[in-house]
Amino acid sequence: MVVEATAVEQRREETQRVRPIIGPGARRHAAMSSTKPWRWIDLDLVRSRGYPQTLRPITGPPAKSPHGAALARSKGMAEQPVLVVRDVVKTYAGMVVLDHVSLYVERGETLVIVGGSGAGKSTLIRQIVGIERPDSGTVSIAGIDIASLGEVALLQARRHLAVVFQNNALLDSLSVFDNVAFPLREELNVSERDVEPRVMAKLDALGLADAREKLPGELSGGMAKRVAVARALVVEPELLIYDEPTTGLDPKTARKVDHLIDETRDRFLVTSMVITHDMATAYEVADRVMLLEHGRFVGEGPTELFFSSNVEAIRSFSEASGFDPHKLELARAHRKTAAEIRAAWGSRRR
Ligand SMILES: Nc1ncnc2c1ncn2[C@@H]1O[C@H](COP(=O)(O)OP(=O)(O)OP(=O)(O)O)[C@@H](O)[C@H]1O
Ligand SMILES: [Mg+2]
Repeated sequence: MVVEATAVEQRREETQRVRPIIGPGARRHAAMSSTKPWRWIDLDLVRSRGYPQTLRPITGPPAKSPHGAALARSKGMAEQPVLVVRDVVKTYAGMVVLDHVSLYVERGETLVIVGGSGAGKSTLIRQIVGIERPDSGTVSIAGIDIASLGEVALLQARRHLAVVFQNNALLDSLSVFDNVAFPLREELNVSERDVEPRVMAKLDALGLADAREKLPGELSGGMAKRVAVARALVVEPELLIYDEPTTGLDPKTARKVDHLIDETRDRFLVTSMVITHDMATAYEVADRVMLLEHGRFVGEGPTELFFSSNVEAIRSFSEASGFDPHKLELARAHRKTAAEIRAAWGSRRR
């Protein structure tokens, strides 16, 4: 407890010492909770001071935003992190692939996890969705610790989240409609009478109604991604996890997918976690970024400061990406804050 308090204190000090950046990003950050970092936190340093890894910041009073009142009313559920991964270790045949990994995702935010090939990103997703079980550590989805659950309870807990897979994982022989209907029919046993309206609601919202009879092979890369998002959304998840959403797409389509991620968040008020090595995506959609290297998170902070980060690993990753940071403010100026999404989610639930 003493150690935890020290780590949180250090985090507070760091967030308060650093002045907010200038421009639209500064407004966004000002609207974020006071515990959000305005500079990169060196997680190795935090660990070396005796705390395993920063976790959820202590929640302060509701952020001052146009939705402040709604946010206050919806506290409780809305203030609970949707996902908490605590100290997860995963080894394959003695090789450590996840080395005491911890993270949280707050409701309404978009957490982007960046990391190079082999860093352990896909392995992390498999532990989160419960396809594999970690050697040690815990994964909690909407407050439920999934490690201790049996198969049936695990399936239920998994309904809080859905994954948009890297290659979309659409079934080639099924139409767009049947692909989106698949989880309702096969996993939730929804009656056929209710399938049609639920599927069509998502197809309409994502501009896919006219494509309902098409086969995946007849779709462009961008449309196929939309279908994958529709299929993930049809089970009404609270958290959407995107695995490498832009890999294999041309740059124009990739940027459309970035917009799709933001659009989906705004429209369906989902919390998002995006795993990528595409820095343009990170810049476009992130509220917060964490860098995973060799199975360890080495830093956490705002995308705006990626290129001037105090953490060497972050700087070298961003420099190697070749992304032009001057495009950042233009791309991000229109985004809503996580607090706004959280407040809207809270008022819709009431
Ligand atoms: N089932 C497995 N058995 C053995 N080793 C594995 C297994 N899954 C992953 N690994 C190893 O774990 C490491 C991390 O793999 P992972 O696929 O999680 O990386 P990644 O960050 O998703 O990389 P990429 O960007 O290339 O997809 C790699 O060295 C990989 O070879
Ligand atoms: Mg991977």
